[in-house]
Amino acid sequence: MNYRHIYHAGSFTDVVKHVILTALIHLLSRKDTPLCYIDTHAGSGYYDLSSELSAKTKEYTLGIEKIIQCENPPALVKRYLDCIHNINNQLTHAKRFAALRYYPGSPLIARHLLRPQDRVIACELQLQEYQTLKTTFDQYKNVAIHHLDGFLGLKAFLPPKERRGLILIDPPYEDPDEFTHIAHALSVALKRFETGCYAIWYPIKQHSQTEHFYATLKKEIKQPKLAIEFTIYPDIANHLNGCGMIIINPPWQCDEIINELLPWIWNALTINQQGHYSAYLLA
Ligand SMILES: C[S@@+](CC[C@H](N)C(=O)[O-])C[C@H]1O[C@@H](n2cnc3c(N)ncnc32)[C@H](O)[C@@H]1O
Repeated sequence: MNYRHIYHAGSFTDVVKHVILTALIHLLSRKDTPLCYIDTHAGSGYYDLSSELSAKTKEYTLGIEKIIQCENPPALVKRYLDCIHNINNQLTHAKRFAALRYYPGSPLIARHLLRPQDRVIACELQLQEYQTLKTTFDQYKNVAIHHLDGFLGLKAFLPPKERRGLILIDPPYEDPDEFTHIAHALSVALKRFETGCYAIWYPIKQHSQTEHFYATLKKEIKQPKLAIEFTIYPDIANHLNGCGMIIINPPWQCDEIINELLPWIWNALTINQQGHYSAYLLA
């Protein structure tokens, strides 16, 4: 396992993933009943954008740094920015976004948005990342951090006792068979918890790879599937042109809310109007 998320923290693909996560939590919080959030590949919780490792790629300059400079973001983007503001306030005692130094990962963003009745379960396999994550969440109630393979976590923690759940699946895609692995893990997970809302992040590098993934999902999964695509480069072969998210069992009005958000995010992040965005149900 060589992957370290610090190189990609705050990148445009992180922004897309985390704004969609914000939207999903918002939609699922319309009911008062408790929600269980499961993060199968959680990362370390937060990332120092001023670190040497982050400086090697500076991916955040094409992501969060652009977003915080935009005026009048939509309400859900404001909520996401609030999480970033919050962690920078806590860690640097700064009062303004100009002091952007830390970028929160998915479990911290989710924790910020969830309510007292909700619960977080996070799995991370890389030991150092796990240790940082564990320390980060020491102070929080209703959070369980596990040094565990996230796919095993799906078997261990589904169905959640709340019977309402949001499951983020965000692996590093180091394994060439990751797409197949995910489709299989999803079929197993859905047998245990068929009404859960699952959000799967994936890189968009090659059109054929994405199409193959969709075809497998259509064959193996009967639940409704919303496919969200977001690219900021033209179709360059074997290049990270963008990312996508599949939402299984999307909450009511999810496609409308996402379709309202995407043009704003894309205009903020696109490079010379390249790439595209879309959100549609896989039939
Ligand atoms: C893309 S990063 C996660 C980023 C995080 N979800 C976020 O949005 O802030 C993927 C993480 O999965 C971890 N990882 C790799 N294989 C894993 C596995 N089998 N189970 C759990 N975590 C794993 C990596 O160490 C890495 O921290």
